[in-house]
Amino acid sequence: MRVSRGAAIQLVLLALVAGGITTAVALFPRWLPLEASKQAHRIDFVIWYVTIICIVIYAIVVGLLSYSVLHFRAAPDDESDGPPTHGSTRLEFAWTAIPFLIVTSIAIVCAIVLARNDSAGATPLHVDVTAQQFAWSFKYPESNSVTSTTLRLPVGRTTVLDMTSLDVIHAFFVPEFRQNEDVVPGTTTHLVVTPTRIGTYPLICNELCGLGHTTMRSTVVVMSQADFDTWVKSQGKATATGGATGGKAVFVNNGCIACHTLKAAGATGKIGPDLDNLPSYAAHFHQPLDVFIRTQVTHPDTFHQPGFPTGVMPHTFAALPKAQLDALIQFLIASSKGGK
Ligand code: CUA
Repeated sequence: MRVSRGAAIQLVLLALVAGGITTAVALFPRWLPLEASKQAHRIDFVIWYVTIICIVIYAIVVGLLSYSVLHFRAAPDDESDGPPTHGSTRLEFAWTAIPFLIVTSIAIVCAIVLARNDSAGATPLHVDVTAQQFAWSFKYPESNSVTSTTLRLPVGRTTVLDMTSLDVIHAFFVPEFRQNEDVVPGTTTHLVVTPTRIGTYPLICNELCGLGHTTMRSTVVVMSQADFDTWVKSQGKATATGGATGGKAVFVNNGCIACHTLKAAGATGKIGPDLDNLPSYAAHFHQPLDVFIRTQVTHPDTFHQPGFPTGVMPHTFAALPKAQLDALIQFLIASSKGGK
C-alpha cells in the first residue's frame, strides 16, 4: 500500500493531537508529591523517562488507529473478506528491534539510578530504625544513642537508615523521599536518604502488619544542621534525666500510645484496652494491681480482656531492659491510680 502525502499529513496530525492531550494529562495535575531528597529526584527522572516513551508510543498507535477507522471502515452491508496480505520482514524486524532498544535503555537508566541511590558516600550519618506493631523509633548511635519517635534529619547530609523489626514485616515509606524499603525481623535492611528540603513529611508503614497497621505512622522532620545539633543536645539531656519521667518515656518510645488510651501520656489509642481502667481490670481478675500490670505487659493475654482480640499485643516487652520495664510498670500504676 502506498501512502499519499495528504494521508501522511493526516496521520501525523492525529498522532500530534493524541500526544498533546496525553502530555497535558501527564503534566497538569500534580501526580507526584513534593520532591524532598536527591534520591527522589533520580526516581522521578526514571518516572518521566518512561512516561515520555509511553506518550510517544501511545500517540503513534492512536494516530494509526484513528486514521484506519476514518479511511478503511467497511460499508454497513459489506461482508466480504479484506484483501490477503503477506508479512513484511522489514516491519517485523522494526517492531522487534525498537522495543528491545527501548526496554534495554530503561534497564540501563534504572541500574544507574539504583546504584547512585544506594551509594552513601564516605561519611554518612547513621540512624537505627526500629519498627514494631505499631510504632517507629529512631536511635542516633553517633550522638550518645539519643532516641526519638520522630525521625529528625539534617538537610543536605546523606543518612543511612539501618532498619530492623521486633515482630513482623513492616515497610518504611516517606512519599516525599519516594523510596520504599521492607523492615524485617532478624535482619537489618538499609536505606540511603539525602534530604534536600527543610520541612515535615509523613512516614507511613507500607506493609500490612496487623490490626493497627493504618495507625503506624510517624513524622520526618528535616532541619538545618544547626537546628539538628541543638535538638540532639536537648534530647541527650532529657534522656539522662530518667527517673520519675522515665516510665512515661518508655511508654511513648515503645509505641504503647498507638494502641492504648492513657490520660497521663496523652494517649488515645482504641485498639487495646483503656489503661486508665487498669485498677478495675485488676480487680475483675482478683489480682493485685502491680502483679496484674507486670503479667499483662510481659505475657500479654494471660488475663483475657473481654471485647478485645487476643494475639494483638506484641510479646516483645518482656525483653525490655529491667530498669525500663520497672519504670514503665511504676508509671502505669501511678497514672492509672491518678486517673480514677
Ligand atoms: Cu507496620 Cu503496617
